[in-house]
Amino acid sequence: MTQTLTLRRPDDMHLHLRDGAMLAAVLPETARHFARAIIMPNLVPPVVTGAEAAAYRDRILACLPEGMAFEPLMTLYLTEATDPADVAAAHASGLVKAVKLYPAGATTNSASGVRDFDKVRAVLETMAEIGLPLCVHGEVTDPAIDIFDREAVFIDRVLDPVRRATPGLRVVMEHITTRDGVDYARSGGDDLGATITTHHLIINRNHILAGGIKPHYYCLPVAKRESHRLALREAATSGEARFFLGTDSAPHPDHLKEHACGCAGCFTATNTMPLLAHVFEEERALDRLEAFASLNGAAFYRLPPNAGRLVLEKTADPAEWPDKIGREAGPVTVFNPGFPVYWHVKD
Ligand code: NCD
Ligand code: ZN
Ligand code: ZN
Repeated sequence: MTQTLTLRRPDDMHLHLRDGAMLAAVLPETARHFARAIIMPNLVPPVVTGAEAAAYRDRILACLPEGMAFEPLMTLYLTEATDPADVAAAHASGLVKAVKLYPAGATTNSASGVRDFDKVRAVLETMAEIGLPLCVHGEVTDPAIDIFDREAVFIDRVLDPVRRATPGLRVVMEHITTRDGVDYARSGGDDLGATITTHHLIINRNHILAGGIKPHYYCLPVAKRESHRLALREAATSGEARFFLGTDSAPHPDHLKEHACGCAGCFTATNTMPLLAHVFEEERALDRLEAFASLNGAAFYRLPPNAGRLVLEKTADPAEWPDKIGREAGPVTVFNPGFPVYWHVKD
């Protein structure tokens, strides 16, 4: 028997669209299901100023296929030279919805990120005053810290001190991967949110490393042990307003993933909604999928929920999607959950 689930149209509160041919290849994969997305600014060179964000927004909209509706929610890449007045103006104009903090060297295209937090104090204070959220890639870059501990250590060494030093600063802990991240998100008030990706609800570190190395499961923060995956599932399906979807769908061409020094990122834009329905059904929480994917993120960003709807259907036939997309720009391998999924998005 066919089961149907109708949601407010979802938002992806953490998305990498890239630029040029890759942008053209991946944008329809998101716009097919999502009404809006928080667009990550880690281009080369990064999107630092309001003018750069406006130009990037125009390039995104110029790539949008006829008949598709999609609103890119723009962000600025925080550098030690970021001008508080430019940030405030980009926010006041309605263009920019968040500022992104990458610790320098933490992840893909983060070389222009922050090393000395004293240098961004004035920007953070301005953001606290105007209510503009700071989205944080929460990993320390200290080579002495084990990669599996970098999120937990970041919370203690950086995130908590920054939040204490900047009262009122609204923060989104991006792509949390640990129980420590879940617990810290819960320790905050309504000024603290956390995004959770699709893939971190599905894979643990064994998927990457056991039985041969699987580069398409490698992303940052790297997936952790099973107990952490279970903590993320509990948080995502809790219905709590602080937890919301940010897929972190991050396309890299296959030749750079299947490489001696492979890039970090999983590409989930194509199949996220069927995968989430599968996960939420396993957790007996289908009734909370709308909160996670469509309501909580919008509320955090003080946006109205989308007017449109997305209908998911469960049938006896497994869902199908392409193994790869963007043949010219990539190809880019679509995340493979490793199990059949019977939920489909109804067009
Ligand atoms: C992202 C990318 O490829 O831009 N990669 C990733 O593994 N998540 C960067 C990021 O979000 O950290
Ligand atoms: Zn990141
Ligand atoms: Zn990301």
